[in-house]
Amino acid sequence: MTEPRPGDRPTSAGRHVVLVGMMGVGKSTVGRRVADALGRPFSDSDAVIEARTGQTVAEIFAREGEPAFRTLETQVLAEVLDDPTPTVVAAAGGVVLDPANRTALRRAGTVVWLQAPLELLVERVAGSAHRPALADDPAGTLARLAEGREGLYAEVSDLLVDAARPLDEVVARIVETVREREASAPTGRSPS
Ligand code: S3P
Repeated sequence: MTEPRPGDRPTSAGRHVVLVGMMGVGKSTVGRRVADALGRPFSDSDAVIEARTGQTVAEIFAREGEPAFRTLETQVLAEVLDDPTPTVVAAAGGVVLDPANRTALRRAGTVVWLQAPLELLVERVAGSAHRPALADDPAGTLARLAEGREGLYAEVSDLLVDAARPLDEVVARIVETVREREASAPTGRSPS
């Protein structure tokens, strides 16, 4: 597989809308709303993994370990991006860690980085059962993860959106950008 050159536009390969960003930033909530607005199916990476394995994310981490979870995450991402149906995807927070996933994301369509201040993330993840990676110190862990990942989210994304803004505004900004990009860029796919 050849690496895309800087300046290659991912819209030449796909028409998916993929939301990336830290745990708790609202990828699933925003993704569902964007999918409704665009009239497209919605896919949530963690939910697909849980449905497929019959285990929660926490159970997979505990029984099989994080590397096994990351393998599943990569498989699920590749499958959804290979699907010719344009889909809105909430990608799990750690998906950008794998270079192969980042290559796939750069060709996916429109990748949106949802970003919010750490305090808001901490507030939103409180009590969440599907985030074993946060362990006993959510604030410290989120800060450390964010530091390691921000450059990776930036690398794969076409649009940065402030997820602390009101939900309607966040959704409208994404929908508007997707429509503009798709109207102005070749898709590489035959119109259906
Ligand atoms: C993770 C994010 C979680 C889930 C798992 C690991 C991460 O998904 O996949 O707990 O490493 O950022 P969300 O981003 O949907 O919370």
